[in-house]
Formats: sequence, C-alpha cells, structure tokens
Amino acid sequence: MQFFVDTADIDQIKEAYSWGIVDGVTTNPSLIKKAVDKLKAQGSSAGIEDYIGEILRAADGDPVSLEVIGCDEATMYAQGMRLFERFNPIAENVVVKIPVNPEMGDGTAHFDGLKVINRLAEQGIPVNVTLVFTPEQALLAAKAGAAYVSPFAGRIDDELRRAAASTASKMSYWPMAGDGQHELDGMVSGVDLIEQCVDILTVHDLDGCQVLAASLRTARQVRECALVGAHVATAPFEVLESMIRHAKTVEGMRAFTADIVPEYSRLFTD
Ligand code: E4P
Repeated sequence: MQFFVDTADIDQIKEAYSWGIVDGVTTNPSLIKKAVDKLKAQGSSAGIEDYIGEILRAADGDPVSLEVIGCDEATMYAQGMRLFERFNPIAENVVVKIPVNPEMGDGTAHFDGLKVINRLAEQGIPVNVTLVFTPEQALLAAKAGAAYVSPFAGRIDDELRRAAASTASKMSYWPMAGDGQHELDGMVSGVDLIEQCVDILTVHDLDGCQVLAASLRTARQVRECALVGAHVATAPFEVLESMIRHAKTVEGMRAFTADIVPEYSRLFTD
C-alpha cells in the first residue's frame, strides 16, 4: 500500500519524506491556500510557481496531485494542460486533479469532469479524480481513463454522523461496519465506500486505476483502508504521524531502557 501526504506545506512534506514511508503528495486549492497563508505570515516573498516547484522536487519523482480550479470542460482541460506543461518538466511527477463532476448546482456540466479525464488521459497525462462519493462515480472515472480515483471517506462519515444526530467531532471514529442503523446510499461508513470502490474496479479488471482513499482523519481509518485493499491512502501529516504512536510502545521503551546494565551498554561504546 502506498501513503501520500495530503498537504501543500513544504515543511510537512519534507519531514514526512524523511520517515521513508511516503510515496506521493496530494494538494487541493484549500491546502495551497493554507500553505500560501503560512508563507505570508512568515514574511516570505516566494512566488507560488517556485513554491510548487519546491513541492515537486521534495517528492523526489513520486506523484504530486495539482488540482484545476475551473468548472467546465474547456476551462478544466486548458488548466490541466497548463499545470502539466508548466510543472511536469520540473520533476516529471505531476498528476492533474479533476473533480468527478464539476456541477455547481445549476444543473449543467455533470459530464465535463469525465470528458476532461478522457482527454487528458488520451494525452498520456495521469489524472486523479477527486470528490468521489459513490462506487459508480469511481467506475465512471476509471472507465474515462483516471489513474487514481479519490473517494472521500471522512465526508461520508460526516453524513452518517449527521443522520445519526451524533454530536461527535468530524475527527472522531465512525465504525467501518456502521452503527447498525444508518446507511447512505448503500454505504454504512466511509471505509465501506473505499471497499466498494476497490471491489467495483477489481470486478471489472480496471487495474489501470488505483483507489486513493482520501478525507482520512484517523489512523484507524487508514488501517481499515489498508485492510480493504485501497491502493493508496492520502492522509494529513498529523494523521500519518499518529500512526506510529502507541502508549504501550512508550511504556515498553521506558522499561527496556531502565533495564540496561553497564555490561550491555559497553557493547556499544568499547
Ligand atoms: C482531498 O483532496 C482532500 O484534501 C481531503 O482528503 C479532504 O479531507 P477532509 O474531508 O477532511 O476535508
């Protein structure tokens, strides 16, 4: 399984890469905004182009998703081409991120995402399809030529918590098998969405497309995504970081360290 770090913060990207377990980076306009705000607060005058270049180099040849901001076919295609042509030469690792359906509520453009995925894929440009909330959206995106589909697990859990009138925070754990009472369009949890996406692509041999589990807020969700066969999990820096921690590990370290006798210690110094 691959791990991507879901951030545009260069410090976090470099730190996560130093752990030796990161295989790529995902960004979106909100994450870029956060990174740009941080830069401004630090008084940095670095331009966005140079900054994105730094992210691409930090990822060391691994895929970095950069998202378009348009909402119709012509604009998204032009933006996707522009992102790829401008940034891919830096480290040959740009993946263009396209919404599965860019419709904004006015009833138009439902299929513009699929059209753009198809056109970019035909040019050999890898596409990460975002804002996927059903297995059928994943299926359509994969058929259109997506390299990755990104189902948003956490946001499905948000809806289920809402249906259950739960006041638990969006960072809280929602059981993979659901609460036994609520479902959303045949899904009982965000991880269930991930599993159904994996299954639907597997059943139809769409092996050119990988399920990139997104909107992950807890280490346990990442674990469950791994168990159900997600090819990739993209998680915020803090979630990846939390995966290594355990109170019993700390307790064990303290006990082992307390037991070190001088004879054993000398093995490492003499
Ligand atoms: C994907 O593009 C998003 O960055 C992310 O996974 C969404 O996570 P959220 O639902 O916690 O905002």
